[in-house]
Amino acid sequence: MTKTSDQDKKNNPEATGLRKGLTSYGDSGFSLFLRKAFIKGAGYSDIALDRPVIGIANTGSAFNPCHGNMPQLIEAVKRGVMLAGGLPMDFPTISIHESFASPTSMYLRNLMSMDTEEMIRAQPMDAVILIGGCDKTVPAQLMGAASAGIPAIQLVTGSMLTGSHRSERVGACTDCRRFWGKYRADEIDHDEINAVNSQLVASVGTCSVMGTASTMACVTEALGMMLPGGASPPAVTADRIRIAERTGATAVAMAINGLTPDKIMTPKAFENALRVLLAIGGSTNGIIHLTAIAGRMGIVLELDRLDAIGRETPVLIDLKPSGQYYMEDFHASGGMHALLRELKPLMHMDTLTVTGRTLGEELDIAGPGFPQSVIRPFTSPIYPQGGIAVLRGNLAPSGAIIKQSAADANLMEHEGRAVVFENIEDMALRIDDDALDVNADDVLVLKNIGPTGASMPEAGYLPIPKKLARAGVKDMVRISDGRMSGTAGGTIVLHVTPESAIGGPLAYVKNGDRIRLSVKERSINLLVSDAELVQRIRENPIVRPTAERGYRHLFLKTVTQADKGVDFDFLRPVDAKPENKPEE
Ligand code: FES
Ligand code: MG
Repeated sequence: MTKTSDQDKKNNPEATGLRKGLTSYGDSGFSLFLRKAFIKGAGYSDIALDRPVIGIANTGSAFNPCHGNMPQLIEAVKRGVMLAGGLPMDFPTISIHESFASPTSMYLRNLMSMDTEEMIRAQPMDAVILIGGCDKTVPAQLMGAASAGIPAIQLVTGSMLTGSHRSERVGACTDCRRFWGKYRADEIDHDEINAVNSQLVASVGTCSVMGTASTMACVTEALGMMLPGGASPPAVTADRIRIAERTGATAVAMAINGLTPDKIMTPKAFENALRVLLAIGGSTNGIIHLTAIAGRMGIVLELDRLDAIGRETPVLIDLKPSGQYYMEDFHASGGMHALLRELKPLMHMDTLTVTGRTLGEELDIAGPGFPQSVIRPFTSPIYPQGGIAVLRGNLAPSGAIIKQSAADANLMEHEGRAVVFENIEDMALRIDDDALDVNADDVLVLKNIGPTGASMPEAGYLPIPKKLARAGVKDMVRISDGRMSGTAGGTIVLHVTPESAIGGPLAYVKNGDRIRLSVKERSINLLVSDAELVQRIRENPIVRPTAERGYRHLFLKTVTQADKGVDFDFLRPVDAKPENKPEE
């Protein structure tokens, strides 16, 4: 790591320290004088000030246990920045936790991205370190950093440890759902569900399976925006703290060298990220987030390309919910380096990372692997095709997806009778009613949980109706315009686009209609004639939801559909350029 000399700063006008973004109103000398006076008020001396300023986005919050190691990470990051000759300055932004954010965490992701972008822009920093972890925070930070444009590097808080329930290993939150399913089916009692509740989240850090947080950590490393090896160390380990220290030092080099996000987040880098998402059996939410981040760079990610990549990319990681292990096992087995060694022939290895070296160069530095059983060789995958398939049809003209690696193989080709719920409240009211007319072969349909319908909650994982759960039914075809948690599994069709609340065909499905799912043909169809559909549309005009004021007004007015990343339209450069698509 080079120390910043005056010569460096002359050669690299990007690294301007406290001078950056001075609002001089005609007297820049006085503005800098004031800025220095105030920072000295916090106890800094002159020697600390004339060097690259590295901002650190601090997302610690009592409401976010996934970020519970924030103080230790910030300390280590600051040490790294100072060892490399920079001045670390942490600042707060919004923090979002999945279980504490209402109405949904997705509702707040774009707000956090705007907060992050504007705070990076407003304050004098030459590079920024983004510390996130819980599902929406990393996407929000990368979206903000992509738009702000200064050198940026992502650090994640790392995964939580696994717990133990009556000597069975458990972790959030695939096992949360499994145990809750057992409780709903009367397989375990009140005392046992209470006992397991204390074991599911065994430490601070993000969910210990390949949920959205772990998915975003892995794809961010593949994207090049995180230090190689930075995705997998658990939150409470020395490895995690050392990654934090190195992240600090790397940020100083990025500031000096002007290594901005546009040099790293290229179309090829996004294709690498998508490939990794599929190979890890990653969260379906990752697709929406990558689409949104790419959109900020003016890059279009197309669902059909995702499907094509999926057909040639097997699932190699044996982690829940697609497999059996946890993130700490992934780390012990070599983490992303071990995965990339297997995926190398399919990846663009010439994409740049935050280190200034390419993905290929970093993999060479990491050296050879070792025998282990969590990251499978290409020749012996967990699942032969990518975890996620893209569906189209008259029910989803702009696409829908299914996480086939976590679905029941017997339901992949299925035709059944629709059992329709108009919205979440309707579902909550009736799904456990013994009088509900439903059989195991039916297709459960939930409307109005898309971006404008309900800010896209993870309600796409509809529970199995209680009377069927008690009879031993474990999976059914379920369809919605919402999302599901990355830690969930089942034969679940998600992100139906356009959504029902803006008049997508899903809005016109009626009880008793027949629906056909064919993963092989990549289709999802409502077996109702076009004439009948047109008639239903005419008879039931849709009134789009609106809000009088505030953030909700902005959200409902400008939010885009799943195929555009559910970002606000005004935050995406309108001229997404076709030439930004990678060559085949
Ligand atoms: Fe934060 Fe799962 S709730 S990562
Ligand atoms: Mg989640």
